[in-house]
Amino acid sequence: MRNSSRGMVDPFIVMDVMEAARAAETAGRHIIHMEVGQPGSAAPEGARMAAAAAMQDDALGYTVALGLPALRARIAQLYGEWHNVDLNPERVVVTSGSSAAFLLAFTALFDAGDRVVIGAPGYPSYRQILKALSLEPVLIDAQPENRLQPIAADLKGLNAQGLMVASPANPTGTMLNHAAMSSLIGAAQDAGAAFISDEIYHGIEYEAKAVTALEITDEAYVINSFSKYFSMTGWRIGWMVVPEDHVRIIERLAQNMFICAPHISQVTALAAMDCHDELRANMKVYSDNRALMLEELPKAGLGKFAPPDGAFYVYVDVSEYTDDSRQFAAEILEQAGVAVTPGLDFDRKRGHQTLRLSYARSTEDIIEGLTRLKAFMSNRRA
Ligand SMILES: Cc1ncc(COP(=O)(O)O)c(C=O)c1O
Repeated sequence: MRNSSRGMVDPFIVMDVMEAARAAETAGRHIIHMEVGQPGSAAPEGARMAAAAAMQDDALGYTVALGLPALRARIAQLYGEWHNVDLNPERVVVTSGSSAAFLLAFTALFDAGDRVVIGAPGYPSYRQILKALSLEPVLIDAQPENRLQPIAADLKGLNAQGLMVASPANPTGTMLNHAAMSSLIGAAQDAGAAFISDEIYHGIEYEAKAVTALEITDEAYVINSFSKYFSMTGWRIGWMVVPEDHVRIIERLAQNMFICAPHISQVTALAAMDCHDELRANMKVYSDNRALMLEELPKAGLGKFAPPDGAFYVYVDVSEYTDDSRQFAAEILEQAGVAVTPGLDFDRKRGHQTLRLSYARSTEDIIEGLTRLKAFMSNRRA
């Protein structure tokens, strides 16, 4: 049967790593998973209890397209708690993860052929979803001196209709501070481009609090999710905040594309937002793991990276060892029993010399992974 050309998106290379790791495990090997971009923990217990009760008591049919009003109100309250921003709950749209929010945002904001600027390295699905919607991803080679985040000057002469940023970012974990975020928002507005901020790693931050675009402007789409800080990846639940005059546009799209986000996940997410003790305990694990990575990776000769401000990744420059990050990752899996992600997923041009290491798993796993990496690198140098 015929295919569309816009449907021809690239595969996620990390999936190949995960498959190779799975095959090694089936063959009886013990693998440490530093490739995965998700928490090892379940949704908080209080949230799971709320889900169990809802399954007993409620028919769990469709909800209204924009999401349960109580959840939208609780999300708005979160902006007060985290950022001192007074947010109208009417502007909050509940989505099936941030992935569904990207579809809604890109569809609402752009027409076929429009150009949307994103930084490389970056989360690979941005460019693939843009392409699948007949939009043109315009990639900026973000520079190490800017901690691999785009800057306002990068936008010059690009004739773009959109700019999308992520802070904290995947794969680097670096953040945009207030000045950097403001200057990017200003540059997008000057260029007449829509500004989209992916804030899915908010809450997982170490030394400074992450800045939301909503502290600076109401004229932005802000995308977030319950996947990471709230440890709910498989529940497929997230949200988006849009300007007041865009709510009805998004509502009509959401009604037609999704009807609603999963009802059970909305109930669970609402309860998760008040499970503070467990969420803090998860943060302590990430924070301990990060400290171990910062301490031990340089001892393995893997010390070329910007210390992450948030999320749970370290993006390491391995140019002194390889020009083929895929092969290097395969060697690390084969010889050290550690699964890591080649940078090619995040940066088609420069990612053959980088690796992303995730520290989202247990501290015990991170200690073992780092021990194995040190042994592997020291054998390799010998
Ligand atoms: C930067 C970034 N944005 C969005 C997503 C998608 O998350 P979800 O659809 O689970 O909310 C991910 C997943 O890893 C991510 O790293």
